[in-house]
Amino acid sequence: MPVQKSTPLMEINHISVAYQDNRSILNDIHLTINQGEFVSIIGKSGCGKSTLLNVIAGYIKPKHGKITVQGREVTKPGPDRGFVFQDLALFPWLSVLDNVSFGLRMAGVSKQEILERSKEAIRMVGLSGSENKSISDLSGGMKQRVAIARTLVTKPNILLMDEPFSALDEQTRESLQEELLRIQKETDMTVILVTHSIDEAIYLSDRVAVFDDQGGIHNMIHIGLGKPRIPEIRVSSYFNEYKKQLMQDLRYDFQIQYESEGSGI
Ligand SMILES: Nc1ncnc2c1ncn2[C@@H]1O[C@H](COP(=O)(O)OP(=O)(O)O)[C@@H](O)[C@H]1O
Ligand SMILES: [Mg+2]
Repeated sequence: MPVQKSTPLMEINHISVAYQDNRSILNDIHLTINQGEFVSIIGKSGCGKSTLLNVIAGYIKPKHGKITVQGREVTKPGPDRGFVFQDLALFPWLSVLDNVSFGLRMAGVSKQEILERSKEAIRMVGLSGSENKSISDLSGGMKQRVAIARTLVTKPNILLMDEPFSALDEQTRESLQEELLRIQKETDMTVILVTHSIDEAIYLSDRVAVFDDQGGIHNMIHIGLGKPRIPEIRVSSYFNEYKKQLMQDLRYDFQIQYESEGSGI
């Protein structure tokens, strides 16, 4: 279905969540995201980042608020929203091809189409030629590529990624970041990424949402570094300015605590 570029793709409307213990997790999250945008979410562990991705994916129902995609309320998971999980959740005993094609086989797509689409997704992540390799023979970076391909094969318009590169070494991580930007350009997908890495958030994103400890949005930063990104931008003064800003934003809660504790000294 064609997407209207003028209206936001997704509206996250005043979302809060309560798990069984009834504790409020997200605090009135309000955010609109446009088609083709790359938005990162950064914030301390436990502030609700994964919870928000799960609400967008349709796995968790919010207690308050709603999410709409192209004007339609999200009530359940759908093929328009692909999720790359933190723990990859691959089947180690299956080949690359069988892992990537798994979702399509479950969806009852024809054999020919399954093969074509799986090979295309494997090409997109740079793994052509490795279709028949077993998952257990792959490096961490290659496993991550398979996990991304397995999500791409369903042709989602929105890619949700929960700390996908956190287990990888720096070099592998940077090369996968480049791949992700290339794939996003090729597909015009919208990406929402949860990350702990300030550098990763700046390098990849058009906007970075900084969550506070209560699960609210403390700040939203537009990253005006131009696309396509040039790797050298990582060591530029512009990049460092954003880094300084994000570091300050992430220490915001700490500073309040520090200032109130320190006021009597
Ligand atoms: N299934 C669940 N049941 C109850 N509490 C949960 C569940 N999942 C997460 N939480 C709690 O919700 C809060 C936010 O978790 P999460 O969204 O995983 O945070 P983040 O991804 O930012 O680290 C945490 O306090 C966590 O313990
Ligand atoms: Mg998380």
